[in-house]
Amino acid sequence: MLTIQSNVSLKSYNTFGIDATARYLVEVDNDEDIQTLLQLPDVQTLPKLILGGGSNLLLTQDFNGLVVKINIKGIQTIKEDQDNIWVQAGAGENWHEFVMYCVERKWAGLENLSLIPGTVGAAPMQNIGAYGVEIKDTFYRLEAVHIATGQKRIFTREECKFGYRDSVFKNEVKGEYIISSVQFKLHKTPTFHISYGDIQKTLDQMSVKELSIKAISDAVIKIRKSKLPDPAEIGNAGSFFKNPEILTSQYHQLQQLYPEIPGYVVSEDTTKVPAGWLIEQCGWKGKRLGNIGVHTKQALVLVNYGGGKGAEIKQLSEKIQASVEEKFGIKLLTEVNFI
Ligand code: EPU
Repeated sequence: MLTIQSNVSLKSYNTFGIDATARYLVEVDNDEDIQTLLQLPDVQTLPKLILGGGSNLLLTQDFNGLVVKINIKGIQTIKEDQDNIWVQAGAGENWHEFVMYCVERKWAGLENLSLIPGTVGAAPMQNIGAYGVEIKDTFYRLEAVHIATGQKRIFTREECKFGYRDSVFKNEVKGEYIISSVQFKLHKTPTFHISYGDIQKTLDQMSVKELSIKAISDAVIKIRKSKLPDPAEIGNAGSFFKNPEILTSQYHQLQQLYPEIPGYVVSEDTTKVPAGWLIEQCGWKGKRLGNIGVHTKQALVLVNYGGGKGAEIKQLSEKIQASVEEKFGIKLLTEVNFI
C-alpha cells in the first residue's frame, strides 16, 4: 500500500542531515508500487526527486514536489559459470551491506568499494569509485522504469556511458528513469587491486599474511574510517567536489610554482590533481564557520556539525571554488547534486 505523506522533514533522508521539507514523500517497496505511483493523478506533473540513501545530495531549499524514496530490497544470484557469478540487488539495498554479502561469499570485485554510503540503485548514477576501482568494472546491467510511460528498460554497461563519477543518468536521461535493480558480474577468482597507496600500507600495518578480498575490504574500511567522517556522527556527503582533470602542460606549469603538487596521469595530455590538496593549500582544511565547515582530516569533504543549512554549505563551496580558481587557475566541479 502506497502512503503519500505531506510536509515531511528530510533530515533523516540525507546524509548531510539538512532539515529541509518535502511537500510530499512516498516510499516504494517494489516494481508494482512504482507502477501504481506513476498512474496516480498529479504525479506526472509534480517535480520529483528520486532518493536512495541521500548520500550525494545537498538540499539548499525545501522541495516543493514529490520525493520518491526507493526501498526495493532483495539479492539474488542470476546465473554462474566456472569463473563468474551474476548477482542482482534491489535498488534500495544498502550499498555497504551488499558489498559485505558478496565479500562473505568470496565473490570478488566490489571489496575496494566497502563502506561507501548510499544504496545500490544510486551507485551507477555517478559510477561510484574508490581505491582504484569503479562500479563500472563489475557492472553487468540494470533495470529501470521510464517515469513518463511506466515502461521497463534494461541499460547495458555501454548504454550507461560510465565516466569518472558520471553516467547517462546524470546527462542524456537525467530525471527520466527510476532504477529498480542492478546486476553485477563478480568473479570467483579474485584480482587484487592494492596499487592505491594507502591500501598496501594499511595491509602491512594490519600484518596481513595472506591477501584476500576480506583483507582488502577490512583495509578499505580502516582507511575510510580514519579519513572520512561517519554521516551518523557528522553530516556529510563524501567528496564534495570531483578531482579536476587538467592539461598536463598546465600541470607542469603549476609544478614550477608548487613542486610538491600531486598529480596522476589520466591520458597522454591530461593529469588529475587531488582537489583535497588544492583546497588544503588554500587554507580551508579544518575551517569551521558556525555549524558547517571543512573536515579536519580530508579537505574534500564539507561537513554539517548539526543545524547547518544547505544554502550555507553551498556558499562555503562557492568560496572554496573561488579561492582554488584564484590560486591555481583550476575550476572545481561539484560531485554532490544540488536541489
Ligand atoms: N590530499 C591532501 N589534503 C587533503 C586531502 C587529500 O593533500 O585534505 C591529497 C593527498 O595528496 C592524498 C590525495 O589528495 O594523497 C588523495 O587523497 P585521498 O586518497 O583521500 O582521495 P581523494 O582523491 O581525495 C578520491 C575519491 C574518494 C575516494 C578516494 C579513494 C573523488 C572526488 N573522491 O578522493 O571518493 O574514496 O579517492 O579512492 O574522486 C566520494 O566520491 O565521495 C569519495 C569519498
